[in-house]
Amino acid sequence: MSLSAIKEEMDALVLELTQHNYNYYVLAMPTIGDYEFDKKLKHLADLEKQNPDLADPNSPTLRVGGDITKNFVTVPHKYPMLSLGNTYNEQDLRDFDERIRKAIGNQFEYVCELKFDGLSISLTYDNGKLLRAVTRGDGTKGDDVTSNVKTIHTIPHQIKSTQAPSNFEIRGEIFMHKAAFLKLNAAREELGEIPYANPRNFASGTIKMQDSKEVAKRPLDGFIYFLYTDKNDFRNHWDSLQAVNSWGFHVCEHNRLVNNIDEVLDFIHYWENERHNLSYDIDGIVIKVNSYAQQQELGFTAKSPRWAISYKYKAAEVETVLEKVTYQVGRTGAVTPVANLKPVLLAGTTVKRATLHNANEIDRLDLHIGDTVFVEKGGEIIPKIIKVNPAKRQENARKVDYLRNCPECGTPLVRKEGEAVHYCPNDEGCPPQIVGKMQHFISRRAMNIDGLGDETIETFHRNGLLNHISDIYTLYRNETALKGMERFGQRSIDNMLAGIEKSKEMPFEKVLFGLGIRYVGETVAKKLAIGMKNIDALASATIEELIAIDEIGQRIAESIVEYFANKEHIKQIELLKIAGLSFEIEEKVIELASDRLIGKTFVISGVFETYSRDELKEMIEANGGKILSGISGKLNYLVAGDNMGPSKLEKATKLNIPIISDDSLLEMINKEKDS
Ligand code: IVH
Repeated sequence: MSLSAIKEEMDALVLELTQHNYNYYVLAMPTIGDYEFDKKLKHLADLEKQNPDLADPNSPTLRVGGDITKNFVTVPHKYPMLSLGNTYNEQDLRDFDERIRKAIGNQFEYVCELKFDGLSISLTYDNGKLLRAVTRGDGTKGDDVTSNVKTIHTIPHQIKSTQAPSNFEIRGEIFMHKAAFLKLNAAREELGEIPYANPRNFASGTIKMQDSKEVAKRPLDGFIYFLYTDKNDFRNHWDSLQAVNSWGFHVCEHNRLVNNIDEVLDFIHYWENERHNLSYDIDGIVIKVNSYAQQQELGFTAKSPRWAISYKYKAAEVETVLEKVTYQVGRTGAVTPVANLKPVLLAGTTVKRATLHNANEIDRLDLHIGDTVFVEKGGEIIPKIIKVNPAKRQENARKVDYLRNCPECGTPLVRKEGEAVHYCPNDEGCPPQIVGKMQHFISRRAMNIDGLGDETIETFHRNGLLNHISDIYTLYRNETALKGMERFGQRSIDNMLAGIEKSKEMPFEKVLFGLGIRYVGETVAKKLAIGMKNIDALASATIEELIAIDEIGQRIAESIVEYFANKEHIKQIELLKIAGLSFEIEEKVIELASDRLIGKTFVISGVFETYSRDELKEMIEANGGKILSGISGKLNYLVAGDNMGPSKLEKATKLNIPIISDDSLLEMINKEKDS
């Protein structure tokens, strides 16, 4: 191979891997499996080793992570956040062990840990209090995500143990349990939002959300795996983990202290199968030399410690044949293409179907019927087609042409500009949409109707009893028909009718959420209810008026306007009004002490001598002011006490927001009152 050809190959690899790094770290949307990525990176590293003069100074082989997301304050890491060398087979591990023994002799222990598949986090404790939580970022500096991390129940805000040093930094992994992922992702899909590919992406998407209240609704968890202190009282990693555990941190109970590489391999083999029974994903095992003195002796390379390594399990992958593509229609009319595969065994289960997400994914794969495809269990949950094996494509194979008409009702599908998903617009006549809408309406988070379940809705719809949400409230008129339903006795009928009657007490925001307007989830419904006060105002609101409401963007506003432009929707609402459902908010009458702070917004942060934060909050609200959850361009004043987080201060300063004391706040209230 000529030098210029080698250079060309290296440049292409740098470009490709940089893009993959960006997709993975910044967008949290990887388009390549870890194994493939590591293989390519290793190939590039080999080429650079053989041709050092041709190496790119910005090569991804030199980088530890990804770019910084702009919206958060960037904080440098006191100790760089390194990555680990990866191995995929026993020989690599034995080589690692050999290198260690050459450097420090035969007297040492390893700590074996699970390699959690989430995102790493650095937590700084100052005076026993959680001061800051920072993502890995590019390894030298990351994003301050303290307020989001504070929502994680297993991360202590304050250390209770007197044994703990007052200042330390601690590292761990944040992740989402598989069960929570499945539940929340299904809810996203129901709302017509693009689902996350796996729990790791969901966790990293969540930790970078701007509103920590939203974060709190998505249960995250974390494990701690490393402690840094200036004055380390421990002689080894194992002891530090035991201590950290006793200070109230979540340390994985599966960690093991072992004596040699054979015991490490036993641990690896055990978890190779057993990992599927864990409630969270792991993608490998981490092995660390236990003694700190020996760790120090071994030192670091530019990217990773020499005293630790990871062993990665291969993502379960298998080849099979694409038989056909079918399409599912959800409650909002969103269409999801599904690959129907020749059944094949993968990680212990038979896989017959794989999700294709949307038309873009089908294009990306250049999918043809009869193609031989590689299927991977991404995050061990939803099988996914990684790529096609083009060598095995039949000559006359037919390219998958995205469906033009709804598979359920035949209506031509629509796809809005800039959107990935196709929709069936026939929401009044398309069976899965009709049933799905009613099922959503009665669900626990919406109207929570006791005695009426998803299956009953389906049966009643099949028997012509239910076609619209409003029909639920006239079911009582059909007692004879109800009595004729199989397995539906008088007790069930009475329960159901009582449940339906009770649901009339549900507040406006629940009814609004229950209507199932595309993109209007629980939080948005609440904001709309508060912002618009009643359904008539909402139904006649313009896009501009809607966007003026906190957290309502163009996409949601358009969807609302479109919803109310449909006469059938208006008719349904009128019928529900007649049934007695609540279509306006019950306003609590708040007596204001003064209206001096009306139109002014505040954030309170830190500790105050005279008043508690809650007392200050009450005072502000009693005088007409509004409390915001975070610092943004909409904020008028930051009321700062002692020990306020530096990130808040920095952000407020950057945005030129006046920072005032509690005294100035009181002055503001009283002076204005006197005047
Ligand atoms: S130790 C200097 N232990 O794997 C060593 N890392 O590529 C720091 N990870 O960024 C890492 N489980 O996000 C360590 N038990 C564990 C881990 C773990 C998952 C992640 C971590 C790190 C990456 C290394």
